[in-house]
Amino acid sequence: MLKLAVFVSGRGSNLKAILNSPNLKELVVVKAVVSNKADCKAFGIARENSIDTFTLGSGEGKVSYDKLNDLLKSLEIDLVVLAGFLKMIPADVVRTFKNRIINIHPALLPSFGGKGMYGINVHKAVFDSSAQVSGVTVHFVDEHYDTGRIIAQRCVDISGVKSPEEIAGKVLKEEHKLLPFVIQKFAEDKIVIENNRVKIIN
Ligand code: GRF
Repeated sequence: MLKLAVFVSGRGSNLKAILNSPNLKELVVVKAVVSNKADCKAFGIARENSIDTFTLGSGEGKVSYDKLNDLLKSLEIDLVVLAGFLKMIPADVVRTFKNRIINIHPALLPSFGGKGMYGINVHKAVFDSSAQVSGVTVHFVDEHYDTGRIIAQRCVDISGVKSPEEIAGKVLKEEHKLLPFVIQKFAEDKIVIENNRVKIIN
């Protein structure tokens, strides 16, 4: 079983998609749900599923960012999944878990990414640009926001949309399919890097 740590900040619908994916049931186990927000909805989902939660920050009962690497190592985490986590992952963790941290972004990178590009901000920027397609990107995490190698993308037709919220809804549906798919491929060891490009083996 591939051992996952899922990092969240908000409602946790992608966490739910991972936990509910029939294809992942026999392949992965979510060992930890981690957030910088102790009161996030996603922690509720973790607790309902008897998964340990860890809050990052300073103060009692929290895990400091410089202890994060040790925590992940002690839990023997194989893959870190950022599903709505908004903070930068410390450089020592990025180094230790090279090509083993993935992030889901609700647009087609390398457009509409970077600092401040999260949540509805992304969809507003896409809407205002008059782009006719948007989509989902799952990529490796490096020391910068949204710049790591792209693993998989799916497009969504947004030619008829009337609002950023409508884009968000369409994209989220694809997120819930693409993230479990990529995790499954990891678990099956079917993600390889060749000539600086990521390839998913069928
Ligand atoms: C998703 O849109 C994800 O792409 C982005 O943050 C959002 C998290 O949503 N990185 P949820 O908490 O999984 O519902």
